[in-house]
Amino acid sequence: MDLNLAEKVVIVTGGGSNIGRGIVLAFVKEGANVVIAEIDEAQGGKTAKDANALSGGKAIAIKTDITNVDSVTAMVKKTLEEFGKVDVLVNNAAWVMDRLFVEKPRAEWEREINIILWGNINCTRAVLDHMIERKYGKIVNIGSDAGRMGEFREAVYSGAKGGVIALSKSLARELGRHGINVNVVCPSLIVPESKEYVSKESMWGEELMAVFTPEAQEKAAKAYPLRRLGKPEDIANATLFLASDAASWITGQTLSVDGGYVMM
Ligand SMILES: NC(=O)c1ccc[n+]([C@@H]2O[C@H](COP(=O)([O-])OP(=O)(O)OC[C@H]3O[C@@H](n4cnc5c(N)ncnc54)[C@H](O)[C@@H]3O)[C@@H](O)[C@H]2O)c1
Repeated sequence: MDLNLAEKVVIVTGGGSNIGRGIVLAFVKEGANVVIAEIDEAQGGKTAKDANALSGGKAIAIKTDITNVDSVTAMVKKTLEEFGKVDVLVNNAAWVMDRLFVEKPRAEWEREINIILWGNINCTRAVLDHMIERKYGKIVNIGSDAGRMGEFREAVYSGAKGGVIALSKSLARELGRHGINVNVVCPSLIVPESKEYVSKESMWGEELMAVFTPEAQEKAAKAYPLRRLGKPEDIANATLFLASDAASWITGQTLSVDGGYVMM
């Protein structure tokens, strides 16, 4: 199936690191032009360089803090100046610190909610006037199985991800009449392949990386019907499909891409 993504203009938030990086590379390989809206400027630049070494579209990194409306507005303005349109928004950036609810400082809850919910709301709002005017747009929100099932030591993160799912369904109802699709892809565990692919602002700090040794990953994989953990490409494949016109009659849906971990 040809997804016809060549020449599409795609914004990927948090596109410098791990899953976001995989999504950026996959879009560029399909010939799309991609803006990496990333708070870690150096990591965004590194991913753009890797993407531009592939044959396909072009990638640029724009330093963006998605929790800050002015920063997001400036990023969308620069995108329009550089590429002339926005076809696809992938709200991917997130953050979590694993900790029991009763042991967690308020500042961590706020950071999780600000990035996951406010970041999504800010970026979505910033592209909508343009998408509505063109009567065309695809929004793919990267959720989490935690937002469907709940997760031990990730209560507020899970709540925020559940919020992303409900937000997406509501927006799908409002925006369908304007030719805009809104869907959610929910990953399960995807450990970065290398520290090189991880941003300074990533949830994959030293502490979490140390937990997922190769032995721990092998053990964790046994909980998955397909007996392996995920790779960024797994999420990228589903994201590209939902961002394409091949999925033009799909909206308001939540798709777990997770080796069968969650079935609903
Ligand atoms: N990796 C997993 O196991 C897993 C599992 C379930 C869901 N997810 C979801 O997949 C998505 C990507 O996860 P990941 O593992 O690649 O995470 P990651 O932490 O490696 O990447 C997140 C990116 O967002 C960027 N970012 C953070 N704050 C930002 C801000 N304010 N403005 C702009 N960019 C900001 C970071 O610099 C980083 O590049 C997230 O939505 C996450 O919740 C991941």
